Amino acid sequence: MPQQVKAVIARAKGAPVEVTTIVVPDPGPGEAVVRIQACGVCHTDLHYREGGINDEFPFLLGHEAAGIVESVGEGVTEVEPGDFVVLNWRAVCGQCRSCRRGRPQYCFDTHNAKQKMTLLDGTELSPALGIGAFAEKTLVAAGQCTKVDPAAEPAVAGLLGCGVMAGLGAAINTGNVGRGDSVAVIGCGGVGGAAVLGSRLAGAAKIIAVDIDDRKLETARRLGATHTVNSRTTDPVEAIRELTGGNGADVVVEAVGRPETYKQAFYARDLAGTVVLVGVPTPEMTLELPLLDVFGRGGALKSSWYGDCLPSRDFPMLIDLYLQGRLDLRAFVTETIDLDAVEQAFERMHHGDVLRSVVIL
Ligand SMILES: NC(=O)c1ccc[n+]([C@@H]2O[C@H](COP(=O)([O-])OP(=O)(O)OC[C@H]3O[C@@H](n4cnc5c(N)ncnc54)[C@H](O)[C@@H]3O)[C@@H](O)[C@H]2O)c1
Ligand SMILES: [Zn+2]
Ligand SMILES: [Zn+2]
Repeated sequence: MPQQVKAVIARAKGAPVEVTTIVVPDPGPGEAVVRIQACGVCHTDLHYREGGINDEFPFLLGHEAAGIVESVGEGVTEVEPGDFVVLNWRAVCGQCRSCRRGRPQYCFDTHNAKQKMTLLDGTELSPALGIGAFAEKTLVAAGQCTKVDPAAEPAVAGLLGCGVMAGLGAAINTGNVGRGDSVAVIGCGGVGGAAVLGSRLAGAAKIIAVDIDDRKLETARRLGATHTVNSRTTDPVEAIRELTGGNGADVVVEAVGRPETYKQAFYARDLAGTVVLVGVPTPEMTLELPLLDVFGRGGALKSSWYGDCLPSRDFPMLIDLYLQGRLDLRAFVTETIDLDAVEQAFERMHHGDVLRSVVIL
């Protein structure tokens, strides 16, 4: 029987989000219904509400979630009812040209549920990133459910579903930070903060956090930054060079998504160093660089989507490290809130007051 549950939707561009009742169908073949326990508030949810992603309103928001599998459809073997899972937006297909070349993290055909959740009047909802987890229950493709150790609190585990994984992976997977490396992270919100944490985990010797907000620099220190630079008052390129013997950092992670911070990242890296762009630019932004500098500095200019993660490989491993006390994922949970407080959480995020507000269901 289809179920009626409470959920947060964005009905129209720019309008405040609202709590309403939605209809969740029984899982069909390859699908699962998950009872959501916790879901973080991410910038991307706000982008959806503002019409910055596409026009397919109404959106069912929320996508950094953990919960318990309630029921599964025909042919589902990867999870069963009762499993504790983190939801992901990279359920790889295994068949596209990228998957077949052994690079599933670049899968071109990731899976979402085929059936639609709806409003009571039958209007189809567009779930954020194919998840839609500001809801008591949601319908996803079974491959979007990644089993992790149930000893982890849902509010912490769910964060791996998006921003924190993006930052950790930008350092560990895309930037390939290794023991002894010097790393600079420009923009230390939830994503950049996670890049700092990931760099520490990978054994970086020097981790330089750059932000324009001293509160974020303080958090970055707690997460493992060895040096901090407030780029409102100090030239970050010069500061990073100075802190690295005049050379620049081996890896610079750009977690803002703006041309001026990308340029800082470009010039703050050592010769043959790596720049990782994880911040998401807007369509009108352009970048101008002397081509000779691009050529002459060598190295690698990369971008990182979802931290180049493979949920099945990375989520259980990172949760295990968290449970061993080696990865302070809890530091990202600034506050826990109710389902009806998402709009206020957007406001606090906008003012830079939180790393993550997490809705508890
Ligand atoms: N690539 C991915 O897969 C992925 C996934 C999730 C989020 N993101 C993107 O990552 C970026 C960061 O997300 P977040 O959740 O950490 O946002 P956030 O708002 O929490 O953090 C942004 C940080 O950048 C700082 N900042 C702003 N302008 C700056 C400047 N000029 N110089 C230095 N620091 C500056 C802010 O003070 C803040 O601390 C966003 O663009 C987001 O869309 C990317
Ligand atoms: Zn694929
Ligand atoms: Zn997100």
